[in-house]
Amino acid sequence: MPAIVLIGAQWGDEGKGKATDILAGQVQWVVRYQGGNNAGHTVVLPDGQDFALHLIPSGILTPGMRNVIGNGVVVDPGVLLDELSGLEARGVDTSNLMISADAHLIMPYHVAIDKVTERFLGKAKIGTTGRGIGPAYQDKVARVGVRVADVLDEKILHQKVEAALDLKNQILVKVYNRRALDVDEVVDTVLAHGRRFAERIADTRLLLNKALEGGETVLLEGSQGTLLDVDHGTYPFVTSSNPTSGGAAVGSGIGPNKITRVIGILKAYTTRVGSGPFPTELLDAMGEHLRKAGGEVGVTTGRPRRCGWFDAVIGRYAVRVNGITDFFLTKLDVLSGLESVPICVGYEVDGKRVDDMPMTQTDVHHAQPVYEELPGWFEDLSACRTFDELPANARAYVQRIEELTGAPVSAIGVGPGRDQTITRDV
Ligand code: GDP
Ligand code: IMO
Ligand code: MG
Repeated sequence: MPAIVLIGAQWGDEGKGKATDILAGQVQWVVRYQGGNNAGHTVVLPDGQDFALHLIPSGILTPGMRNVIGNGVVVDPGVLLDELSGLEARGVDTSNLMISADAHLIMPYHVAIDKVTERFLGKAKIGTTGRGIGPAYQDKVARVGVRVADVLDEKILHQKVEAALDLKNQILVKVYNRRALDVDEVVDTVLAHGRRFAERIADTRLLLNKALEGGETVLLEGSQGTLLDVDHGTYPFVTSSNPTSGGAAVGSGIGPNKITRVIGILKAYTTRVGSGPFPTELLDAMGEHLRKAGGEVGVTTGRPRRCGWFDAVIGRYAVRVNGITDFFLTKLDVLSGLESVPICVGYEVDGKRVDDMPMTQTDVHHAQPVYEELPGWFEDLSACRTFDELPANARAYVQRIEELTGAPVSAIGVGPGRDQTITRDV
């Protein structure tokens, strides 16, 4: 059996948590392969309980599921333990969570540097989640990172933290006028945390490859989204990892030829948190309407999400860079009650019509959406369970998205609940 990748097709918060939870019924393993606790994945169980997962795969809520935090993830040890105890306090069995020995740790200095750099950037800030994600990945690439396995070796851990703080403390104190961090304090805290998750540390690439060889199915749960990818996103307003499907092989240690399906999670409109270009953004009452109707508030930071119409240029781009085989279109229910629903079919950039993602950052900033108006619908969709039960105009909206993006929609979300989903044969 194969590996399935599930990715965000826009700027994150497309509904990956719900989609993972649904697919968990068909797989044996759920793996996070990049990002860290910058993510906020919401899952609403059939009994109405809702959970917000940040670092732990959404598969943890499915009894018996094997869950893995892969090598490509950055792990904040304190956050990991808090999230585990929060889940356990609510009766969730977490015994099946393993953590890659090679995943990098988010250290207290990463969080401090993330915050001061953002402040330093002022108006030009990225609008990060302030969780230390960027600085942790910087250290990984600079080859001065601390990895999960280092918590098992006090001497090595001490050496690495000392070397890192030698430079970081100078930056914190001399550039940013902040307090220096104490090496022993940092080491002691990380060691104390590490003792509490030591038995979960594993060579997860070996586990996953054995599982695949044994015929089991692995679901790779992306966080963030295509346009937040450090290579393919709206750089520099991106996160510091590769959420796109290629990142799933690297961040879990399986061969890309094991991946047979790439599911793009696509919201029926568009949202973004943080700074950066957003061609279809609505800064008027309609944007406010989408925010209210869709409950568009960040799960991790509580920031209101920027809202806008569906952008087919982005949808097409996501299909291309991820090799999306099919889409899970979420939140179609939110669009009920509109006279007409605009879809962005292309851009105008400095007077020229373009159908694909512009090549330069400046052109993306200049992109003006070209809209096509589709007739809206007024029915409440939340009880629809088959495609045919949807109003004709809602069906036409879905079909137009398929035409414009070039990938079929295999599932449609009509509410946050697990059962509020329409599946289709495509
Ligand atoms: P993720 O980061 O991609 O997992 O998405 P978030 O959890 O940050 O945001 C998605 C929000 O939409 C959550 O509150 C979900 O419960 C909710 N949601 C997911 N699918 C649907 C849907 O089809 N309809 C509605 N109304 N809400 C949905
Ligand atoms: P999920 O998995 C939406 C955004 C931040 C910021 C940029 C960089 O829930 O979809 P970072 O802290 O990663 O360095 O911030 O990325 N961002 C997200 N936006 N959903 C997320 O995760 C995000 N994770 C990071 O707002 O613009
Ligand atoms: Mg989210």
